Amino acid sequence: MAIAATSAATRAASSGRVYDDWVVRAFAIMTVVWGVVGMLVGVIIAAQLAWPELNLGIPWLSYGRLRPLHTNAVIFAFGGCALFATSYHVVQRTCQTPLFAPALAKFTFWGWQLVIVLAAVTLPLGFTQAKEYAELEWPIDILIAVVWVAYAVVFFGTVGIRKVRHIYVANWFFGAFILAVALLHIVNSAAIPWSGMKSYSAYAGVQDAMIQWWYGHNAVGFFLTAGFLGMMYYYIPKQAERPVYSYRLSIVHFWALIFTYMWAGPHHLHYTALPDWTQSVGMVFSLVLLAPSWGGMINGIMTLSGAWHKLRDDPILKFLIVSLSFYGMSTFEGPMMSIKTVNALSHYTDWTVGHVHSGALGWVGLISMGAMYHLIPRMYGKKSMYSTKAIELHFWIATIGIVLYIAAMWIAGVMQGLMWRAVNPDGTLVYSFVESVKATYPFYVIRFGGGVLYLSGMLIMAWNTYMTVRSSKPAVAPVPLPAHA
Ligand code: HEM
Ligand code: HEM
Repeated sequence: MAIAATSAATRAASSGRVYDDWVVRAFAIMTVVWGVVGMLVGVIIAAQLAWPELNLGIPWLSYGRLRPLHTNAVIFAFGGCALFATSYHVVQRTCQTPLFAPALAKFTFWGWQLVIVLAAVTLPLGFTQAKEYAELEWPIDILIAVVWVAYAVVFFGTVGIRKVRHIYVANWFFGAFILAVALLHIVNSAAIPWSGMKSYSAYAGVQDAMIQWWYGHNAVGFFLTAGFLGMMYYYIPKQAERPVYSYRLSIVHFWALIFTYMWAGPHHLHYTALPDWTQSVGMVFSLVLLAPSWGGMINGIMTLSGAWHKLRDDPILKFLIVSLSFYGMSTFEGPMMSIKTVNALSHYTDWTVGHVHSGALGWVGLISMGAMYHLIPRMYGKKSMYSTKAIELHFWIATIGIVLYIAAMWIAGVMQGLMWRAVNPDGTLVYSFVESVKATYPFYVIRFGGGVLYLSGMLIMAWNTYMTVRSSKPAVAPVPLPAHA
């Protein structure tokens, strides 16, 4: 209702320039909704790991089925909606033109929500291709491909009809994310259907694993990173009211990152049947990846130079800048974990889960929340969210939650790795597996606590969003372009 109510107003109020913001508002609201749902499932599975009885003996609620529901909900529903909302918002402002094919953009909204609902139904029922982050069965995969091609048409079509010559750097990152995800999804999902909801991968054995982790790592690189860097390049300069620190660095950052990510996938398959040289290539490219990642982080953080004092009173900037600190942390940790000897310790342990969530909660989560706090009031004709104090509270609760989560997983992970490799002089194991599980218990409880805090922050955001939207007036005129655009 509120989404529709402000649509016409945006058109009227945009001083001659007409933007199609219905779809931006719709995706922004669903970002908050799916954030709550996905994180709630995360908290449930965190609880199940500490207290397995919570499976309740019901197959649909078993850990093995809820885990992929969590990953799909947070990555593709929460993260995906945030990416759709921000890319549609940014591309119109920086190209000074409304969306190309707005009806198709609406189709991407409804199509993407349908994909999410189908995932939420089929995963608990046990339908899966058993490929991590690519679990959905073939009919849903086809729907994803169709929606994604429509997304590409709208996005690149809008860039194509732009009124300014220059293509602002945020659009390069969004564009790369859209193209790469299409390529990854279509290649990795190639399968032979066996029945309505069962298929077999088109690839066999080690090739299947190689393609899956080429996909998996680039899902991190393009879905969880490149698109969010697009957000960084637009919303940090906007919120800080400063130009990007170095536009030249942003171009180097783009090409170096895009080129390097594609080769790093084999670090997920160290010490497997994958040829040794391939594993080494993956390791070397992962180490190289540190440079463009940190280049981007520095560019984002330094955008604040001369305006550091704003961090004190602006909780939205806190979200945006602290997200970059976590980005820096996880992109330092990742290359270290890709070194084969380090991976021998970290792989299979909760260290990996700690790394994932420093990136997921710290980087992806915080930057999405910061971008939404900037975007939502503007889309509803307000200068700011209903409560700035609630944003501040959300920031601190979320940050404490992340620290509890990742510190617990790091300690648990290193402990597990050391316990599993400890051997007596006669070659027998010092610890049985179950001893390592028992030793991990307190850390699972702490992680659960961290998750509850992070989810509580998201609930505060949902309340704040509801209050902002409820009292909304017609949307404001489009904001001016960021510097250099
Ligand atoms: C309240 C917040 C969250 C909680 C409590 C939580 C909890 C969990 C738990 C318990 C697991 C399973 C770990 C295991 O198998 O040992 C997991 C996996 C995962 N979560 Fe979350 N999560 C949260 C938020 C997020 C968010 C926001 C994202 C992404 C944007 C995310 C991405 C992932 C991914 C990618 C995995 C798979 C990790 C792997 O395979 O190593 N999570 N999460
Ligand atoms: C320079 C950047 C990065 C490098 C080189 C890197 C490297 C790695 C390595 C070596 C692993 C462990 C593989 C294994 O032992 O199985 C891993 C796992 C993972 N990383 Fe990163 N990482 C980077 C950044 C990130 C970021 C920013 C995120 C999240 C936003 C992220 C998300 C993940 C996920 C989800 C996994 C778990 C995959 C799975 O097993 O399910 N990584 N990464």
